[in-house]
Amino acid sequence: MKTTRHNDWDPRSDAVQSDQIEAYDAMRERCPVAFSDYLQWSLMRHDDVMRVLEDHTTFSNAASRHLSVPNAMDPPDHTRFRRIIEPYFNDAAMAEFAPRCRAIAEGVVDRLPRDGEVEAMAAMGQDFALEIQCAFMGWPASLHEPLRDWVKRQQAATLAGDREALGKLALEFDGVIRERLAVRRGMDTPPDDVTTRLMHETVDGRPLTDAELVSLMRNWTVGELGTISASIGILMRFVAAHPDWQQRLRDEPEILPDVIDEVLRLDAPLMSNRRIATCPVSVGDRQMEQGERLTILWGAVNRDPAVFPDPDHVRLDRTSGRNLLYGAGVHVCPGAPLARMELLSFMQALMAATQDLALIEEDPAVRARYPAGGYDRVPLYVRR
Ligand code: HEM
Repeated sequence: MKTTRHNDWDPRSDAVQSDQIEAYDAMRERCPVAFSDYLQWSLMRHDDVMRVLEDHTTFSNAASRHLSVPNAMDPPDHTRFRRIIEPYFNDAAMAEFAPRCRAIAEGVVDRLPRDGEVEAMAAMGQDFALEIQCAFMGWPASLHEPLRDWVKRQQAATLAGDREALGKLALEFDGVIRERLAVRRGMDTPPDDVTTRLMHETVDGRPLTDAELVSLMRNWTVGELGTISASIGILMRFVAAHPDWQQRLRDEPEILPDVIDEVLRLDAPLMSNRRIATCPVSVGDRQMEQGERLTILWGAVNRDPAVFPDPDHVRLDRTSGRNLLYGAGVHVCPGAPLARMELLSFMQALMAATQDLALIEEDPAVRARYPAGGYDRVPLYVRR
């Protein structure tokens, strides 16, 4: 018999949504494994989450009713698709894409005003993420605006819990990618790019189906767009809010990779991922039933003071392996090398092209609402 649960909290309340990070910190102290009708079980402690990430048999990723390659798969199916994906993000692939990545970063940063105000999310974060993703996949610039609009509507439908709208949005996205496949199939000599290469991949000796290809490319695109634009907003706000760090980054650019990982640890660009319990199991002092859903709240986990003392401060002496920015276990982010290269290229270009970034007191940054992380708006003053 199903247990009747009472809500420990309301993750969609205004109090939580006005500052997710602050609210998750408070919940982690009060009720670190919390139930709500909306998210079911939310996990906010580092130890609990590590246990979930390392036990994919008890905590399955098959939490979606739809095909989702490889995100909603468990081993052994998951392993067969990860083998296809990983080479696209290996050192050789990153070295091949690096000059293009740098050029896009410099081009986007070059659009900053010489001396004036800018809203960093719209002007920098979204443009950069869209341009990079389309360039990486070999897609035309005409897709930038439809993709920008799609991400916005997808986030709104997720917050509203509107399954019908989410279904329609998934179909819409499928249509966009199927068109990319059709265009290539109509060419005598399709370009040698990531999309064409993926179309020639095989699993168990057969070509990928169109449904598998579309799902895989959707997960790469969704994986990139929201997280990279959120990361740019978080990083730009951080340097503007901390003139001491801004100066240090201008003087010692070699510390940028560590600072980027650390800033995104304390202010998460990706808020959550899901699992489903495959059997009755307890986490912390709570008992879960088979079939119940778990939501990993990365924004809480990566600020757990039990693992990161002084969690709100950027420190370069932390034990790096414990930062779960890119996850851990079999689903660890395959796109992490690309994400790190993109963010480093952007921050290098930004530091080189500007003399000063500052917050605007009368127009403060506005936090994003779930499922987005980071900020909706980051108004800044820029001097080049
Ligand atoms: C700052 C940027 C990014 C962050 C913070 C991030 C974070 C993560 C995390 C935490 C996971 C693990 C999810 C889980 O355990 O359920 C993940 C998985 C994934 N990420 Fe990323 N990611 C980023 C960028 C990217 C990029 C650039 C791509 C691809 C172009 C990508 C593609 C994926 C995919 C496909 C998965 C699912 C892997 C699997 O299930 O095996 N991500 N990401």
